[in-house]
Amino acid sequence: MGAFDNQNVIVTGGTSGIGLATAIKAREAGANVWAVSRTESKISAASADHPDINFQQLDTHDHEGLKALFESVGSVDHIVSAATGAERTMKPFMEQTDEQFRGAFEKFWSYTNVARLGVPFLTEKGSLTFVSGIPARKANVGMSSVSCTGCAVEGLTRALALEIAPKRVNVVAPGIISTGMFDGLGDKKADVLANMGKGVLLGRVGEAEEIAAAIFLCMTNTFMTGVTIDVDGGALLP
Ligand SMILES: NC(=O)c1ccc[n+]([C@@H]2O[C@H](COP(=O)([O-])OP(=O)(O)OC[C@H]3O[C@@H](n4cnc5c(N)ncnc54)[C@H](OP(=O)(O)O)[C@@H]3O)[C@@H](O)[C@H]2O)c1
Repeated sequence: MGAFDNQNVIVTGGTSGIGLATAIKAREAGANVWAVSRTESKISAASADHPDINFQQLDTHDHEGLKALFESVGSVDHIVSAATGAERTMKPFMEQTDEQFRGAFEKFWSYTNVARLGVPFLTEKGSLTFVSGIPARKANVGMSSVSCTGCAVEGLTRALALEIAPKRVNVVAPGIISTGMFDGLGDKKADVLANMGKGVLLGRVGEAEEIAAAIFLCMTNTFMTGVTIDVDGGALLP
């Protein structure tokens, strides 16, 4: 018997990193899992490795596609919104164009789509879990747009918790996590992440499975709503 036997779980951004680790964990707990993202190659690779998860191609900015997914599943027990969903420009606020700054907020708009279209399909005991990030919790030079986006996600979580109860909504704020988000670094990825880890209290960056474990807590703890959980190796401490 798994914690999620006969339950339906949908993960957006579920073909890589934190979303994929969450999809795998939910499947291992017995859930029927749908995991979506935009890129065909990521979907084929994830499907080959995990044939018992329903991977589908979907952009979280596509309202009709999202609606069709929720309608096809029907009754949904848990939704996890983990898609990156935006092009981010990391440079000081005064050096960013308005367009670049607004671009980071595409992640927020993709999360509002998932919430608005998905919550009606959640069971009364169901949950929605968002993923924000450490830039929302601790300011850093060059990270203003990412920081403001994460703060918006956390603000939405608290506001939405009031409006959708007894359905629940929470947010997990990861520190620096070794995922596909850093694949652009190529063969420098391991060294760069190792260096970044030196600035973290626990002396390393995190793994996607460590964030999936916190998302799993948000899904399974039926007395948690409206909260932000930091999973960052102590990076918020001085
Ligand atoms: N890794 C970190 O250090 C870190 C730190 C703080 C917060 N976060 C947050 O954690 C979340 C997960 O990131 P990750 O680190 O797991 O990155 P990742 O490994 O790059 O995974 C991101 C996933 O989102 C999907 N995606 C991106 N845009 C999408 C869209 N518009 N519609 C549907 N799917 C989309 C990607 O697939 P496609 O490209 O195929 O669409 C991929 O499956 C993100 O919200 C990120 O901002 C990460």
